[in-house]
Amino acid sequence: MPESRDIAPATGRLGVLTPGLGAVASTFIAGVIDARQKGIDPIGSMTQMARVRLGDRAENRNPLIREFVPLADLNDIVFGGWDPISANALEAARTAGVLEERDLAPISAELEGVIAMDAVFDQRWVSRLEGTRVKTGDSKWDLAEQVMADIEKFRVDNECERLVMVWCASTEAYREPTEVHDTVESFEAGLRASDPEISPSQIYTYAALQSGVPFANGAPNLSCDLPCMIELADRNGVPIGGKDFKTGQTLMKTILAPGLKARMLGLRGWYSTNILGNRDGEVLDDPENFKSKEVSKLGVLDTILQPTEYPDLYGNIDHVVRINYYPPRGDNKEGWDNIDIYGWMGYPMQIKVNFLCRDSILAAPLVLDLALFFDLAARAGEKGVQEWLSFYFKSPQATDPQVGPEHDIFIQGIKLKNTLREWMGEEPVTHSEA
Ligand SMILES: NC(=O)c1ccc[n+]([C@@H]2O[C@H](COP(=O)([O-])OP(=O)(O)OC[C@H]3O[C@@H](n4cnc5c(N)ncnc54)[C@H](O)[C@@H]3O)[C@@H](O)[C@H]2O)c1
Repeated sequence: MPESRDIAPATGRLGVLTPGLGAVASTFIAGVIDARQKGIDPIGSMTQMARVRLGDRAENRNPLIREFVPLADLNDIVFGGWDPISANALEAARTAGVLEERDLAPISAELEGVIAMDAVFDQRWVSRLEGTRVKTGDSKWDLAEQVMADIEKFRVDNECERLVMVWCASTEAYREPTEVHDTVESFEAGLRASDPEISPSQIYTYAALQSGVPFANGAPNLSCDLPCMIELADRNGVPIGGKDFKTGQTLMKTILAPGLKARMLGLRGWYSTNILGNRDGEVLDDPENFKSKEVSKLGVLDTILQPTEYPDLYGNIDHVVRINYYPPRGDNKEGWDNIDIYGWMGYPMQIKVNFLCRDSILAAPLVLDLALFFDLAARAGEKGVQEWLSFYFKSPQATDPQVGPEHDIFIQGIKLKNTLREWMGEEPVTHSEA
């Protein structure tokens, strides 16, 4: 048996801080409050509902993950966040229109009590939004210090034992990393000089890492994947990971593509289009913001299908991704996929997927799981990129950029569970024996 890790117990309160109190964050908060009020399981959450097999199948040991590893209890979670528009989680939920009034009414007081702190916001990074509840400061350094003060105040006011931060704010405009992102030193100099290449999300990330708070990025923009942040996470001993919640169309893609590959079926093209009408769709309607999303969505197929290893099957794929802002659809996104595959003797076939999904309903359980697992990682003494949590991300951050990330959701799931087994002193399950 491997030796188990020394994991600190999950005692006391866990504060979950979300920059962004929009559709995803408010749906996440409402769902957790609803689950604890009714004593029911939150559907879609692996930490709450999935079981993990231990040992041989014949041993019949299949505990719930939350009984196997020491996770924070739902009743011990307190919520906080920042937003330049929403005043509180109730207002955010009503604006988003994801949940119906009959579900919001019984929990409205608690939701209203989650008051948004003023945001670090800059319209140059999210052109479609007008922020009004926005911090002002002499420099970006000053803004970072204000976020750190918010974090500390939240910790004290809510008597939190531990905190985690999950980015649930709008996708920022696409940029490549620059010299200011190279090292902690260059980034700090950039904060003091208010370097224009430093985005709001990077200010929150810096503040979290300096406050010893694990950080997960639910959007595709650059934040904890920058070299300076990886250095800072390592230096301060803080777990990090991203990016971009794996939901909707990409979730389907990472479920279907490994299946096609397992059967050695060829792929000629994959055309994906989305119509959505929520605030996220409005933000992504700007080409600069869409570019961040496009890069994140396009990376998926190559790593799953390995075109260099299988040039005859996957060496010539047209992969197109489109997002169209269409207000009548609201948060109930419609994803259309046309997949051109080929089989025996090269004969073509088509698969059509029309996924009428609800974006925030799919994303909310991921916020919960990421918050609980990042908190677990911190208590287990982990720092830096948490590759075992790639399962949750569209564009997972790799520990070794030379090797790259794993996108196949089934391999990611095995990796996640084997990490938990290893930490708890159980043998990994390889499925090669009983
Ligand atoms: N819903 C999904 O399935 C899904 C999947 C992957 C990624 N995401 C990403 O998650 C994020 C949230 O999605 P959503 O549907 O809740 O969007 P949303 O527009 O409803 O909410 C985002 C909120 O962030 C706020 N915001 C913008 N800039 C901010 C800043 N600098 N600081 C604090 N708050 C800021 C906005 O005012 C808004 O209320 C988006 O980036 C989206 O791309 C969502």
